[in-house]
This record gives sequence, structure tokens and C-alpha cells, in this order.
Amino acid sequence: MIPPLDSFDESSLDRAFAALRDEVQSDGRRLNTAEAQEAFRLHWLGRKGGRLKAVSDAWLKHAPAEARRPLGIRFNQLKLDIEATLAGATSAPAQAGAAAVRGIDLTLPGTGHRPGVPHPLLETMHAVVGVFEHLGYSVNVGPQVETDFYNFEALNFPPNHPARDTQDTLLVAHQAAKPGRDRLLMRTHTSPVQIRAMVAQQPPLRIVIPGKVHRNDAADATHSPIFHQVEGLCVDTNITFSDLKGTLDHAMKALFGHSVTTRFFPSFFPFTEPSADVQISCIFCGGSGCRKCKYSGWIELLGCGMVDPAVFLAVSEERRRVGLDPAIYDPAKISGFAFGMGVERIAMILHGVADIGLFYSGDLRFLEQFA
Ligand code: PHE
Repeated sequence: MIPPLDSFDESSLDRAFAALRDEVQSDGRRLNTAEAQEAFRLHWLGRKGGRLKAVSDAWLKHAPAEARRPLGIRFNQLKLDIEATLAGATSAPAQAGAAAVRGIDLTLPGTGHRPGVPHPLLETMHAVVGVFEHLGYSVNVGPQVETDFYNFEALNFPPNHPARDTQDTLLVAHQAAKPGRDRLLMRTHTSPVQIRAMVAQQPPLRIVIPGKVHRNDAADATHSPIFHQVEGLCVDTNITFSDLKGTLDHAMKALFGHSVTTRFFPSFFPFTEPSADVQISCIFCGGSGCRKCKYSGWIELLGCGMVDPAVFLAVSEERRRVGLDPAIYDPAKISGFAFGMGVERIAMILHGVADIGLFYSGDLRFLEQFA
């Protein structure tokens, strides 16, 4: 029997639980047979007549609201003490009977812990980054909350220019008091890290920039307001469009297989000139035309181009502003190329995933397929 508590203040509770703990400890000294352990377990933890249950009935159930927490903490500790005492008990050489008494079936398969695997998006991102690491590129990253200057202005999107409409931007609230260039937004692409890298480092530069980007896009089978890109930037003397073509052609073969071919289409980005969209021959039909490539034989995969001199000028100006040598990014002396690709799109093509939302659903039936 557990006597009712006459007071619920902390010291009364301490005293009451200390007495129980002493009892557990002295019972715990006689647990050297499996039978004794089972008897101890029933005596303390038994669902119907166990002492712990009795404590709960006598004390917890009748506790005033403010005593429930201090009581509960001590109750849980007592339970842990009982369990620890039981777990620490060693019995005489394991008799098969002892196991049976404790309800353990040694013939059951174990509870394995399955190792985790990388999420397919991360795995794809690492694969892309890995291709460029083998070419001697290093990895740079930057913030997702970015300033207007890095996300747009330095990349040759002037304020209010319609080119900004191509990237539905999520703005951070309450920025109106700041000068335009310092206003915060969620970066719409990884390209601002190009600027950050050039302001901080001197050429030659060969970097890849993986990361999360944000756009005010409605979610559908191929769009998500948050997605991922891998950006690339190469700056040195005498970098040409041939270097760009050779690099990306190699990268696409490394990612999708050596029979893949590439073609470059004129395109437009404010921060590259000339700009191109890159297509690869359809990896599903080899180029003869199928549903996946909409019977064109080609799949569009990334944007790229030669770094626009206006970008080098913006970098030079910013370097001057922060007290660094601006001349090393003189567009008359250096040149470079940049590219950017969507990680989700590549992962969808590589794994035949039809709905981008599956990547973020957390649905194990989807994720386990990559294990
Ligand atoms: N930042 C561009 C986009 O998100 C992609 C790009 C990167 C294009 C680098 C050219 C060079 O659409």
C-alpha cells in the first residue's frame, strides 16, 4: 500500500520518493536469478498490482495542478531507477528458462538500425559539384537572404529594369527605409555568389556554387518556390567561349554518360554576353524523339555565357568601395564564363521523377527507392 501524501511541497516530495528509492535499491540487491528479476519486475512495474502503478494512483491522480510537474519529474526518475536496477541485474548463466520467463525469444530476428542515405537532391548536387571538383574547381557558398545589390544590381539588372520580372522575387518586409542596394530579398539564383567571390578573391577563379534559391512561383509538377542550383564561374586571362563549351560538354558527359552530346542556343541573361541555353541529346531515346523530350530529341538543361564586362565593372567598383585593388578585374585584361543549372531538374531526369513535389514530401515510399 502507498500511503496518501499529506503535503505536496518539494521537500515532502523529496522525502517520499527517497523512501521509495531506498526500497528499490534494497530489493535490487537480490536479483541474481531470473526468477528474482521477474518477481522484482512484477512487484514494481506490474501493470495491475505493481508499486509504481500504486504510486501513480495514490499520488499523481490526486495531486493539485501545481504539484503535477514536480511530482511527474520525480515519478519518471523513480521509474528510470527501477528500470536501471533491472537492466543492471545479472543472472546466473543464461538458462533458456530464464529468457522464457522474461518473455525474450532469442530466435526472433534482431531490430536492425538501417543506415540513412543521402537525399536524392543532395546526392545529385554532390554529383554535379564532384564533376567540377575533378576539373580543379573549388566550392563557394553564400547567403539565401541576399541584398538587391548582389542578387540584381551587380549582375547588371538595373533597378526597375524589366529583366527582373523573369525572376519572381520574394522580398523581405520593411526594407523601404534602406537604400535600394541594401534591401534584403530571398536570392532568386546562386549568381550573387559570383559577385561575392570576385569581390573577395583575386583571379584566376574556378568555383562552383551549390545552394538553395527562392522564387515566388506557384508549385506544380515542375516548379517549387524553393529549389536548388549549382552555379559555376571561371575567370582568368584569355578564357573563351570554346573553354565554356568544352567544359560543359565534358560535364554533361560525366553526369549523363559519354554518348550524350550538347548543343548551345543563343539566349539572354543580363550578366553574360553572349549567353546560351545548353541542351543535351535526349538520354531516353538517344535523340530520335520520344515523349520525354517532346519528340525533339533534345532536353534543355542549363543557362550559361561569357561574363558580361558590366559585371566585371560592378565588381571593380565594389572592390574600390571596400578598399581592395579594383584593377585585377579590369574587363580589358581578363575574361570568364559562368553557368547555372537546376538541381531538381537534373535529379528528375536522372531518376525519372515526374513530380518535383516528391522531393520535399518526406514520403518514405519515395525516398526508400534511393536507399
Ligand atoms: N542565374 C541564372 C538563372 O537562374 C542561370 C545562369 C547562371 C545563367 C550563370 C548564366 C550564367 O536563371
